Amino acid sequence: MRIPCIFLLLFMDCTDSVQNQFNINTIDENLMTTPVKDIHSYAEPSQAIMQHLKWEAQVDFDSSRISAKASIRISRDPKVEVLLLDTKNLQIDSVHAGTETEAVPTSFKLAKPDEILGSALEIELPEQADWVHIYYQTTEQAEALQWLNPQQTAGKTHPFLFTQSQAILARTWIPLQDSPGIRFTYEATVKVPPQMLALMSASNPQHKNALGIYHFRMEQPIPAYLMALAVGDIYFQSLGPRSGVYAEPEVIESAAYEFGELEQMISIAEELYGPYRWDRYDIIVLPPSFPFGGMENPRLTFATPSILAGDRSLTSLVAHELAHSWSGNLVTNATWEDFWLNEGFTVYFEYRIMEALYGKEYAEMLALLSLQDLRAEVKEMMESKRGSDTHLKLDLKNRNPDDGVTTIAYDKGYYFLRWIEMRVGRNNWDQFIVDYFEENAFQSMTTARFLRFLQKNLIDKHNINLYRDELEEWIYHSGLPESLPEPKSEKFELVEESLKKWLEQGEMPNTAEWSTHEWLHFIKALPGDLDTAAVRSLDQAYNLTQSRNAEIQAAWYQQAIRYQYQAAYPAMADFLNQVGRRKFLAPLYTALAGSEKDKVFALKVYQQARPNYHFVSVNTIDEILQYELEIGN
Ligand code: BES
Ligand code: ZN
Repeated sequence: MRIPCIFLLLFMDCTDSVQNQFNINTIDENLMTTPVKDIHSYAEPSQAIMQHLKWEAQVDFDSSRISAKASIRISRDPKVEVLLLDTKNLQIDSVHAGTETEAVPTSFKLAKPDEILGSALEIELPEQADWVHIYYQTTEQAEALQWLNPQQTAGKTHPFLFTQSQAILARTWIPLQDSPGIRFTYEATVKVPPQMLALMSASNPQHKNALGIYHFRMEQPIPAYLMALAVGDIYFQSLGPRSGVYAEPEVIESAAYEFGELEQMISIAEELYGPYRWDRYDIIVLPPSFPFGGMENPRLTFATPSILAGDRSLTSLVAHELAHSWSGNLVTNATWEDFWLNEGFTVYFEYRIMEALYGKEYAEMLALLSLQDLRAEVKEMMESKRGSDTHLKLDLKNRNPDDGVTTIAYDKGYYFLRWIEMRVGRNNWDQFIVDYFEENAFQSMTTARFLRFLQKNLIDKHNINLYRDELEEWIYHSGLPESLPEPKSEKFELVEESLKKWLEQGEMPNTAEWSTHEWLHFIKALPGDLDTAAVRSLDQAYNLTQSRNAEIQAAWYQQAIRYQYQAAYPAMADFLNQVGRRKFLAPLYTALAGSEKDKVFALKVYQQARPNYHFVSVNTIDEILQYELEIGN
């Protein structure tokens, strides 16, 4: 089915070309820097590269579909006859090729689908054509999209739609070259029902309009995984000259309070590593089924409401997503096997922002908490003979890039960079990072190129004793190097002392001044052999089961499973029903799957909660609980 003509007419006068807004030659030069083969994309960037996307879409909540026209400008080798795009579960209605304004129907074929990658869309390219126009619709299997009914929102009266494109799900709602090594600019016109606001990873409206038609522009070239859309009963509140928050009216006040330090964070980040290159930085707080804590969509971070703790104690997540405006969005991992370049750098940058904002002790607590998770995951991987998954440079051949989303990229990546800092000194290291972002801005980076850049701009430049085999041990070897730097936190030492006193002398810890992080350290450090009476006494004294802090809840319920502390199970069931964030769900369901009795409980909860979770979480939890097998289809 084609997009109704009346709809296209609406677009006619408003979609002027951005072609003449930037210098094509400079963009071309950036894009042409050594395209590397990406095993997770069908695109052949050496034959043709997309440069610009013009997206005209209509969002239909009744049928849970987007109908759209994706017009793509390409830079091509004139000899190439076929353009390959990534798609997955899209319904392609027709394809035209030619120029931006004059195009004729051309033939196309959807190749046999691969379970992970989807199908290549093969478009015949007439000579000289540098635009293709694809008329298509999304389907129910669009894994990036979550269509929420009103019950799943805070306001309970309007539906909601949001996307999650990283890592390779952009292809489930737009046909494009879905590889992090390929960048393009975009403009979009999106029609949504009146009463709804649409937002993208682009210049955004701040108010609804009666027609429900919104225009967007992203003038800096971005990779496909940063394409994003959110539609709902959304309002805006300003936080400062270049930042603000979007949310449903029910949560906007608490969101504005929680992110009160945002402008300061942006300034700190700029002082550390150079100018913020994306003009505005806004955050949208999504409904609770959002499968991640945060997603660094450029100009508009997507965030889970589970960071609204009421006391700003979980805002390192905002620092993290903001940091991606440099590490990730400006200098981007060339393939998902280089994912640590996105996340390791970002965790490092996140902690530096938090250190500047709240002091060294605060950042060290964050680093120590992550070290515990890292050690546990490395141990687990080594024991299950997945040692190669502990390499920073990953091997994801025939695998879903999602398999690479582990503490290795994040925390081993962080400790590697912290180790370099320790060896070269903070001044040299900070100057290096400034140069790294400046010289590689709007380009992609492989692990090998990073090493070359490091050699030239840091090691050789200052004649530093940092040897190749030491660097390679971090990147290409299993486990954690012995030289891993150990953070120190006095506050955590005091927590450990209180725990010891409680265990040995029964003295209840004085927790009046504890921060969320001290609580997390305490809960995670509880020994395996506590009896129910001891667990109950903690719960009665500190009300942990009823905590309203999602991080504390997740950590406590994890222990409740370990101790078979039944009193926490009803609250845990509520939590699993209300929160869709995979980082919380996966460890809890994994722990529950460990015993027959708990697994029955888990399946019961999951059966009810599953329709409320996003595909990303469903895919993971199905596997943990062997769901399809268990329910017998
Ligand atoms: N970019 C990631 C989320 C992501 C990674 C989505 C890979 C899909 C594939 C985001 O920046 C992130 O790391 N989020 C974390 C937050 C954190 C570490 C503070 C999360 O969601 O928990
Ligand atoms: Zn991240």
